[in-house]
Amino acid sequence: MPDWTKARERATNATATIDANVFRGQSATHTALVEGVKVQRLSVAPANSSVPTSFAVSLDKEWNVDKSDLPLKLTWKQTSDARWEFKFDLRREARCYGLGERYSSLNLRGAMHTLSTTDTSLDQHESVDAMYIAIPFLIVQDGADAYGLFLDSPAPQRWDLDSGLINEGGIVLYSRRGWSLYGFGPAPLPSIVAAYTGLTGRHELPPLWSLGHQQSRWSYPDQETALAISEEFRRRNIPCDTIVLDIDYMDDYRVFTTSLERFPDFQAMVEQLNQNKFKVVTIVDPGVKKDSKYHVYQEGVKQDLFCKTSDGKLFVENVWPGKSVFPDFLQPETREWWSKHQGFLARLGVSGIWNDMNEPAFFNMRTPFDPQCPETPPDDQQPFMQTSPEGKVGHLEVRNLYGLLMSRSAREGLLKERPGERPFVLTRSGYAGVQKHSAIWLGDNSSWWEHLAKSIPMLLNVGLSGVAFAGADIGGFGANTSAELLTRWYELGIFYPFFRNHCIMGGCPQEPWAFGPRTEEHIRKLIAARYSLLPYIQNLFWEHKRCGAPLLRPLDWHYPQDENVFQIDDQFLFGESILVAPILHRSHTHRYVYFPEGQWYSLENNRRYAGGTVQRIRLELGTVPAFVKEGSIIPCLDPVQSTAEAPQAPITFRVFGCDAKGKLFEDDGISLNSEYSEYDLLCTNSEFQMHKVYDKYNSSRRYFVQIDGRKTEYRLT
Ligand code: GLC
Repeated sequence: MPDWTKARERATNATATIDANVFRGQSATHTALVEGVKVQRLSVAPANSSVPTSFAVSLDKEWNVDKSDLPLKLTWKQTSDARWEFKFDLRREARCYGLGERYSSLNLRGAMHTLSTTDTSLDQHESVDAMYIAIPFLIVQDGADAYGLFLDSPAPQRWDLDSGLINEGGIVLYSRRGWSLYGFGPAPLPSIVAAYTGLTGRHELPPLWSLGHQQSRWSYPDQETALAISEEFRRRNIPCDTIVLDIDYMDDYRVFTTSLERFPDFQAMVEQLNQNKFKVVTIVDPGVKKDSKYHVYQEGVKQDLFCKTSDGKLFVENVWPGKSVFPDFLQPETREWWSKHQGFLARLGVSGIWNDMNEPAFFNMRTPFDPQCPETPPDDQQPFMQTSPEGKVGHLEVRNLYGLLMSRSAREGLLKERPGERPFVLTRSGYAGVQKHSAIWLGDNSSWWEHLAKSIPMLLNVGLSGVAFAGADIGGFGANTSAELLTRWYELGIFYPFFRNHCIMGGCPQEPWAFGPRTEEHIRKLIAARYSLLPYIQNLFWEHKRCGAPLLRPLDWHYPQDENVFQIDDQFLFGESILVAPILHRSHTHRYVYFPEGQWYSLENNRRYAGGTVQRIRLELGTVPAFVKEGSIIPCLDPVQSTAEAPQAPITFRVFGCDAKGKLFEDDGISLNSEYSEYDLLCTNSEFQMHKVYDKYNSSRRYFVQIDGRKTEYRLT
């Protein structure tokens, strides 16, 4: 355990000087244009050190020396060896977004936000602060202008977003090392996100199968059950692409093993699932069982790849396998070694890797960082040391990178095994730039209406922090779900970019058929609606790749002039064309929906709603709670049971209004550098046309156009 008592004493003795600036190092400000946005970089290093290597920033740019002020009148100082303080302006009307995963409304203002990766476990509620993912990127939307601040340091940070109600923001950074702070803007909100993701990277296009329905639970205990679940999906005609295997597929929770007892023919099981058009995703945790007879443990010890305490002993903590040791992913040798082990799973036919518990979580030390303490203990009094490119470093200084580097290693491993194929990695923990390596989910929520509702602002903020490929456990992880909650969760969940039903051990079954035929019918229809939207979802991922735009957007992304939308976080835009407004409360059958300017059509029944109005709308159980903006063309896939059938399935262009526009992006959905085709879809006076922008991918499917309920075939010439 870190010695917080000494750290407290030290800081208390230093209170006399706590406000003084003790900085004696070097600092420099540079500027560059990123995606047309002015970005200023302030790099600071204490005496005799350099700014540590960044694992977040991937942009290689020419930076010019710059003397101008940072945005939001940002100032900074060092108040002790281990503490830095920043202040910036937050005008009264300014709204604050981003900071990765926060249990908060969309506007983060009025609270303290601790960024130190933490296993919140089932403890997600109003008082939870630090969460699994820590992304120190804040967007301040002030009038028509937005600004961004990104403090690139993986050490603990506390952002005070005007908790004192004095129109001031602040950051405390708990580090003995240097850092870089990037200031973005002023620029419109989409440009700020484009610039930030230009700097820290974007998601590659996901494999198409990973956008289909993923069925999980902790745990499908044996191969018979995994196969039986997949067969139920097919028998009941409920589309599904993936069976997810949680920790019980392993031999006593030893990573990179399978249980011979419960999964005696693992490879044959995967083959059978593949034949039935299912992929398999397996969980991989970082904790390696401390067992001298276990090859992964032996290799790691021999090659010195595990984290050690400052006196050179292996750091040992309890996680699922019991006493475990933890790879030091900061070392390139560890990442290389770990990446090779993905081959074990890939060779068994596993398609994707789910990295969990990688904050890292320890059973006896839930929060290694104490936010009440003015500074962190010296490196050698921290739980263990890691090896950074600059040398040995205390764990807390780099903790926020652990999940990012683990998922990077998993991705690289999958790429080695299947060069040219799009890897799918899911991670629970992450830092700025995690989107280059992995999708994320919001961790252990519960089957509560409150968590259904909270997933909207949480995913909005995650998306504005660069992580577009994200979701929450549908149905809720902890506690028992109900027929009504599960159905309502699917109504929203079909719009989560990452679309997975997952549930805790001991929780009641929550597969789509678990609550009888009526609920099953609703969920079948909802999952089918998700599959029909897949071409539109692919367009959105393509858009993300080009400009960093998230799939889920707050309304002010597209309507920055409309003050009515500024506080809305129980509805969102799914791309520019679709407004989603789900029911979020038990036994409600109606809700109020605000429609921004224009005309809107219910995706389900084409009913029209005038923009600029609030309307009370009936949404019966099982309804897709979405409205399409007039002037849009939505490409929809004909029914399939798995995305394996998607390349042959016809696409229907649903035209909303007489004059409308849309996009179609097509590729093989598998290869990293697949050929692709891109078309502009145009409807003028009910006359539909496809204009090619680029057409290297030859599709053999048929296309149809649906205008005013009439469906006709469209032949591409
Ligand atoms: C963690 C994960 C959860 C998983 C469980 C068992 O709680 O967040 O999704 O099911 O561990 O592996």
